[in-house]
Amino acid sequence: MSHLAIVLAAGKGTRMKSTLPKVLHPIAGRPMLDWVLDAVQGTAPDRTMVVVGHGADDVIEGLPSGVEWCIQEEQHGTGHAAQVGLRALGDIDPASDVLVVPGDTPMLDTETLQTLVDRHREEAASVTLTSTFLDDPTGYGRIVRESDETVRHVVEERDANQVTRRINEVNAGMYVFNAGFFARDLDALETDNAQGEYYLTDVVGLAVDAGRKVGAVPADSRTIAGANDHAQLADAAAHHRRRIANEWMMAGVRMIDPERVYIDHDVELAAGVTLYPGVVLEAGTKVASGAVVGPDVYASGSEIGAGSRVWYAVLRDSVVGPECNVGPYASLRPGSVMEAGAKAGTFVETKNTTVGEGAKVPHLAYMGDATIGPGANIGAGTITCNYDGFAKYPTVIGSDVFIGSDTMLVAPVTIGDGAMTAAGSVITQDVEPGAMGVARSKQRNILGFVQRFAARYRSDHSEDEAR
Ligand code: UD1
Ligand code: MG
Repeated sequence: MSHLAIVLAAGKGTRMKSTLPKVLHPIAGRPMLDWVLDAVQGTAPDRTMVVVGHGADDVIEGLPSGVEWCIQEEQHGTGHAAQVGLRALGDIDPASDVLVVPGDTPMLDTETLQTLVDRHREEAASVTLTSTFLDDPTGYGRIVRESDETVRHVVEERDANQVTRRINEVNAGMYVFNAGFFARDLDALETDNAQGEYYLTDVVGLAVDAGRKVGAVPADSRTIAGANDHAQLADAAAHHRRRIANEWMMAGVRMIDPERVYIDHDVELAAGVTLYPGVVLEAGTKVASGAVVGPDVYASGSEIGAGSRVWYAVLRDSVVGPECNVGPYASLRPGSVMEAGAKAGTFVETKNTTVGEGAKVPHLAYMGDATIGPGANIGAGTITCNYDGFAKYPTVIGSDVFIGSDTMLVAPVTIGDGAMTAAGSVITQDVEPGAMGVARSKQRNILGFVQRFAARYRSDHSEDEAR
């Protein structure tokens, strides 16, 4: 027989001091709740019921398929939340086991939960809780034991006296309950405690009072840690970051300093990728073999092709093909595509632009809504004037075009294959293939000017100097 699962995710997360519901705070690019649900689903429960409340719409929207949800309209504590969840499961076999897990323990793994479920069954307990020892147990419920070491009850920090507070065995917050007793025990909970809430933890004492068997399974203190504030959230994020980096290193990715790379859960890296410090890869970014990324690259929703080098750069929803060069100090905004061997060099910004095979935009340029043909070379200081304050217009640059330095390409405009533009031109008309577009005033040199100018200056200021 399998078990049912209830995940408690309705709390506000007051200690986060944030408008985002606690369980939606992200870790490695996904809400902390998703990490918890992964661990729960790994135990293959028959059904999983997520209790939502605070920020319900947003929490529900992000739920993975295969889980159910119910709403705890007002949050009257973990006991109340469990009751709402259990009722939402409807008529269930009283002999079934109910795994209850908090939604704010993002380091939780399947192994810990499976051990809990297995032990509960082996020992035929009424309630089995998860216990761990902490050097600093502040904030956690303490497990109080009888002299014979059996569990007596759980006392919350705020209800504990000085002696109880010194206990460093804590309630990790994951339990398995026998369904038949669970419904009755939840109905019997009271709110006569420091927080005026229904404490799920009080079910433990009720079971002991009724002479039923209560078990406690030891768990790793890190794995079960809660993320109730931003300091704990950062700890949990660091844990996942290290784990993800380790997995990629085992898969053949070289990291100069794994402590300084930040890889989201859905990023894909090939063996033979090198990551320098300061690399942040988010939202499904993919990096192909032989690519060298960093130092200091932020990439989101982007691809980096085999053998490319990207450093000191920002890539958003962009595709960098194989053997490309990006940076230092390049910004590829959404819709940028670099074809094989293309370059976007120093202080170059692209947006919705394709840089063709082997084409180069080496320095100080803005290319927006542009198509750059293969082999083209864009001179330093070139700008596509793609926006007139109302609408955006395209610039088409043919293959093997040479755009002279400091050209303004006033869109819409097309530069034909193999054409050139003269440096400093403001190009407002199309340039035919193979033609040279010149659009600047003609140079005139005024001979002897400097000497005459200096002489005039001196005579005008001679009185000042005499003073
Ligand atoms: C709880 C335990 C504590 C344990 C700790 C482990 C209780 C009373 N205390 O404390 O013994 O050491 O977890 O991390 O259970 N929630 C709801 N509805 C509510 C209240 C809470 O869904 O009305 C959810 C929260 O969203 C959260 C989880 O239940 O995901 C735990 O609630 P939280 O307030 O974090 O409890 P702790 O104070 O951490
Ligand atoms: Mg908590």
